[in-house]
This record gives sequence, C-alpha cells and structure tokens, in this order.
Amino acid sequence: MREFDEASLTDAVVQRFGETPDPRLREVMQSLVRHLHAFVRDVEPSFAEWQAAIGFLTRTGQKCDDVRQEFILLSDTLGVSMLVDAINHRVAGGATPTTVLGPFYVDNPPELPLGSELATAASGERLHVSGRVTSADGAPLADAIVDVWQSDAEGFYDVQRPAGEAPELRARFRTDAEGCYHFWTVTPAAYPVPTDGPVGDMLTATGRHPMRPAHVHFMIAAPGHETLVTHVFADGDPYLDSDAVFGVKEALVRPFALQAPGPAPDGRSMTGPWRRLAYDFTLARATG
Ligand code: BEZ
Ligand code: FE
Repeated sequence: MREFDEASLTDAVVQRFGETPDPRLREVMQSLVRHLHAFVRDVEPSFAEWQAAIGFLTRTGQKCDDVRQEFILLSDTLGVSMLVDAINHRVAGGATPTTVLGPFYVDNPPELPLGSELATAASGERLHVSGRVTSADGAPLADAIVDVWQSDAEGFYDVQRPAGEAPELRARFRTDAEGCYHFWTVTPAAYPVPTDGPVGDMLTATGRHPMRPAHVHFMIAAPGHETLVTHVFADGDPYLDSDAVFGVKEALVRPFALQAPGPAPDGRSMTGPWRRLAYDFTLARATG
C-alpha cells in the first residue's frame, strides 16, 4: 500500500515497526504509535496547536543541561515518574514505600560521622532526625549507606544557590551496629519545583500550584537489598494533599514534632524550642 487515510494510517505505522528485531523495542514502538494516534484522534489538534506542542517539547529539551533536567520535571508533574515507580515496586513486602528521586540529589555526598550537623551555614529551627534501618525480617542493617538531602528553611537546595558554595544540607552516614542513624539539621520548608521553564508555564496555564510539602530525602543502600529512594514528609504541611509531583504516601508522613527546651536524644541541652523526627526504614531483599 502506498497511500493511507485517517482510517488506515495507524495500522500502517504499527505494521511498519513489525520487523523490529528486538521484541521489546517492537512492543514499545507499536504501543507508542497506537496510543499517540489515539491521543491525536481524541484531541483533534489544529496545526497551530500541534506547532505549540512541538515548541513546548523543544523548549523543554533546550532547558536541560548538566544540573537542570526539565524532561524529568515534566514527567514528575504529569505523574509519570510516580506511575513508573509504582509499577516497579508492586511487591514491596513490608518495605518502606518509595517516592521520586527528584533533581537535587548529588552523587557521593560528603560522608559525616553519626550525630553530625548537616547545616554548616543554613539557619532555621533545629531538627533532630533519628531511626533504624532493618531488613524485611526485622534484622538490623549495620553499615548501611544513608544519603540525606533537603531544602533549607527558605525552601532552597544548595545547588540552587550561587555556584561554588560548599555542599549544604546533604551528607552520607553509615548506620551503627544496631542499624541506627541520627543527625542534626534545620527544619526544611515547603518549596516550589523550578518554575522558570516550560513546565512552570504549563503549571501556570493550567491553574496548578508548583509546591511540594516539606520533606527530607533519603537514599539507603545495603548489600543484598534493593536501594530505597524515598522522603519523609512533615505531618500537617498544607501541601500534603496537592504535592505538585504526586509523591506523597501516607506511610511517609511523620510529625516533625515541636519539643520544649531541655535535653535532646544525644544528651545535648537545648536552650530554645527544637523539633524531632523519628523514622525507621525497612529495605526489601534484592530480587535480581
Ligand atoms: C524534590 O523533592 O527535590 C523534587 C522532586 C521532583 C521535582 C522537583 C523537586
Ligand atoms: Fe525535595
């Protein structure tokens, strides 16, 4: 066949991918064509609308560089990142739920001794964070790698501050013999996902806010276990029910509980009010 019309075009394109040698690539490409054509049939875009869509995707690519990934942000704000996460964590078996990695993780953060202070320059309400890392059978995981990163009290990550400043509010800890970790930091604030690009334009045009509820990120790795990528969210945050990237799970919400002046868990005497977050993590056994 040489000529195709509105009725025959989709099958023709699907068929054209029929000889793809890799069966998974064939499946993905044929499904992509079917769903993309179904979307176009549903929306029936004008030429101007289709050009606007191409322009949006072009600007999304142009916004990407070494430290900015606008396509991941698009995936996050369309709920695709959380859908991929859910599909890949269907049998958690009592493990701590996962959520999006986000764009602010930096490989190999500075390794600090347990009990250290995460904030070297950032000011804000003091927060003590502690807990335990165990396997699904309850066995403590000693020497697990616990990477932590978070926004400051104004809602900014260090990588959003002027270049050249030392890492701030990010570190790597190793659990002790009982699988425990603990550190001091400042209480993070809710913050907007980056809005100075096409994803921000999309949120504005659709009347959506860009806010994420306050949280602390964790990436926890131990031999023989699936690496856990998650956050712990502050109970009571006004954005818990409308997270811009759909990342909240009930089991990840905990009080960042206000404490009166007095002794902290590590024996430190606190002269002003402070907060305390306690969270125990369970890692799933590696399957592969
Ligand atoms: C974050 O939590 O760091 C984040 C996640 C997704 C998009 C933007 C930020
Ligand atoms: Fe974050």
